[in-house]
Amino acid sequence: MPFGHFDDEHREYVITRPDTPLPWLNYLGAADFVGLISNTAGGYAYYRDARLRRLTRYRYNNAPLDLGGRYLYVRDDDSADYWSPSWQPMRSELEEYRCRHGLGYSLIGAQRAGIRVETLYFVPPGATLEVWRTTVVNERASRAHVSLFSTVEFCLWDAQDDATNFQRNYSVGEVEVADGVIYHTSEYRERRDHFAYFACSEPPAGFDTQRDAFLGPYRGWDAPIAVERGACSGSIAHGWQPMGAHHVRLDLAPGESRELIFLLGYGENPIDAKFDPPGSGTLAKRAVRPLIEGYLQREAVAAALDDLHAQWDEVLGKLQVRTDHEHLDRMVNTWNPYQCVVTLNVSRSASLFESGVGRGIGFRDSNQDLLGFVHLDPARARERLLDLAATQLPSGGAYHQYQPLTKRGNDAVGSGFNDDPLWLVLATAAYLKETGDAGILDEVAPYDNAAGSEQALYEHLQRAVGYTLERIGPHGLPLIGRADWNDCLNLNCFSETPGESFQTTENRPGGVAESVFIAGLFVLAARESAEIAQRRGDTASEARYRRAADEMVAAVDAHGWDGAWFRRAYDYFGRPVGSVENDEGQIFVEPQGICVMAGIGLHDGRAQQALASVRERLATPHGIALVQPAFSRYQLHLGEISSYPPGYKENGGVFCHTNPWLMIAEAMTGNGEGAMDYYLRINPSARETLSDVHLCEPYVYAQMIAGPEAPTFGEAKNSWLTGTAAWNLVAATQWILGIRPEHDGLRIDPCLPAEWAGFTATRIFRGATYRITVHKPGGVVGRVARLNVDGVPIVGSLAPLPSRPGAEIEVEAFTANPAT
Ligand code: GLC
Ligand code: GLC
Repeated sequence: MPFGHFDDEHREYVITRPDTPLPWLNYLGAADFVGLISNTAGGYAYYRDARLRRLTRYRYNNAPLDLGGRYLYVRDDDSADYWSPSWQPMRSELEEYRCRHGLGYSLIGAQRAGIRVETLYFVPPGATLEVWRTTVVNERASRAHVSLFSTVEFCLWDAQDDATNFQRNYSVGEVEVADGVIYHTSEYRERRDHFAYFACSEPPAGFDTQRDAFLGPYRGWDAPIAVERGACSGSIAHGWQPMGAHHVRLDLAPGESRELIFLLGYGENPIDAKFDPPGSGTLAKRAVRPLIEGYLQREAVAAALDDLHAQWDEVLGKLQVRTDHEHLDRMVNTWNPYQCVVTLNVSRSASLFESGVGRGIGFRDSNQDLLGFVHLDPARARERLLDLAATQLPSGGAYHQYQPLTKRGNDAVGSGFNDDPLWLVLATAAYLKETGDAGILDEVAPYDNAAGSEQALYEHLQRAVGYTLERIGPHGLPLIGRADWNDCLNLNCFSETPGESFQTTENRPGGVAESVFIAGLFVLAARESAEIAQRRGDTASEARYRRAADEMVAAVDAHGWDGAWFRRAYDYFGRPVGSVENDEGQIFVEPQGICVMAGIGLHDGRAQQALASVRERLATPHGIALVQPAFSRYQLHLGEISSYPPGYKENGGVFCHTNPWLMIAEAMTGNGEGAMDYYLRINPSARETLSDVHLCEPYVYAQMIAGPEAPTFGEAKNSWLTGTAAWNLVAATQWILGIRPEHDGLRIDPCLPAEWAGFTATRIFRGATYRITVHKPGGVVGRVARLNVDGVPIVGSLAPLPSRPGAEIEVEAFTANPAT
């Protein structure tokens, strides 16, 4: 059952009832200022770091789940009836409710008793504030006297401390109120140089800054006393819970509509100009005032909104496709790239499932995010690559995560996830193919951010590959270290202590556990490295990488094949993992995907056999499960994977991130039907009608869907921040539709289901616009054999690089039927 519908023309998802199975989120802002907003206006805002610079409070895991947000209250001053136009937190009956989640904005509103109130929330591009533009309309035949209350609850900056350290926090809260603007200044008097503000375009009739004064003792957000009585009390917070509330009175003629603007922003002052007058302890507001005045103007807000739309037009314009498949078009043209941008911005820090206090920017995660992001904004991709390289360790290994504010490696999580460094090679290769910017290879970056250790990115890549080669186990396969892509397969861990982190605990010494997954990943990375070396004229390295890749393939041939699929690993004791020899966990999805992607077994039938095994043993109507059978008991020698109940997360859930690898593998073996079939099983839009089962948003991918062994099979969790976004975009656009950037041109090599008759696409590549038409007579399954590029016939499927930037290039691609 759906809870709304797609509006493809406006690129919005329209939610038509507020009681969605879970809060359905959207993101406002970009790199610096980020806001999370649910369909009932829940969520919070932060500046750069979701833990250390949290502007507003949110209560995770509350009942109801979504509490804390950008709440407005409407009060009919004639009848004293009051309600929330975003439904939450009052949940009163509404005549009409709508939430339109769009690209970087959300419009949420409702009507009750003839008063309509809707608010557009967005962050102007480049600004460190969010705008709430509220429209109040009197649909009645008579005059209406309406009070509007706007509220936010401030967070005392460090979200973790804010939620735990009450003995201090109840005493440090401070605010200032000047010219109708509420400034949150907790800790500003001492070491902070930043503050938050909450402003309103109307002269307020009143305000509150102390939560208890606004809500009233023993009351919650669903029944604030100030709203009930129709007046704020002008409270000033001294400690306890600082908040911001404005009260605006409106007198509306029949049919009259009024527009109000609220701003929630983040400001900083130079250390030596914090106070005005100097030394006074009063916040210097001179620098921020003009900004506030500016955005309180309707024209400025309208212009910023136009900018926002234009920015998204440009980003999404990098690739637009037209097929006959609405779920593919909708995801590929709008929502999937949108999710890719959000995952690159937010990494895995802040969502409904990531509390913003835990995880920094993951090395492996961010490199994979880049695969789906690089064509959307190559300049930002470049910056991220160099940031990542700067956290690489001199050994070639990598910190598993880094902190967004400092861009330094996270010591608490450390390193030793042996797949991590190889992803830097894949991400760099994708960047080079997209941009041709070989200069990045000579760009220097330090190791572990240590000044004096700077070396060219090319050298960083070599160390990444070297890291694997220096860590080879008894079967000639890479040692797994703490874990590989599967964080929860902890083969050297042996944890018996309740609550201990599987990821950071001391591993048992002498571990020789090996990973077939890293072997496949290594083959991909070594071949990319060889190609990069060849282009640099470094023939010695090129030869070394080709040889290393071949040797790794030989090791997988000898020890990675189980008879009908690829094994997963060898454990601490040298016993196979992911084998018929095991009673549980016989087949894992990851090595089937990555080994076929690396070309292993493509020419001797093993790839096809592995894919048949996946189809038979792992594929479900809700996607491909990670492992089968799931582990029913805790396995000391396997670690966290077996800590999850069967069917959840890595223990046999449909871990969506891995599914596109199988789509790619199917496409590589020429099975367009298979690739598209897997694609649609987890495509959020295709699952929209299952919203009451799926639970998560129908417009973005979730990390996980409960697997067949779970009692809640089909139920999704961890939506938004997942590598699933990047990989699905790659699988759909580069392998199913086959539009794939290469060093020497744009490959047009689709692998389509038989019934497709072709499609069209527009792709911006190396500064040129490629207008692509694929002609495939329906019913045939052939690959593209020839192209017409601006009318010139070309044998094969590679459209050459543009002869000049700005060129418009017409590409027609024709498939050949292999049977004829
Ligand atoms: C999570 C992590 C990712 C990991 C995956 C599998 O999605 O963010 O790094 O690869 O889980 O464990
Ligand atoms: C947990 C999760 C896994 C995630 C990891 C990140 O182990 O199950 O999915 O990758 O945490 O640290």
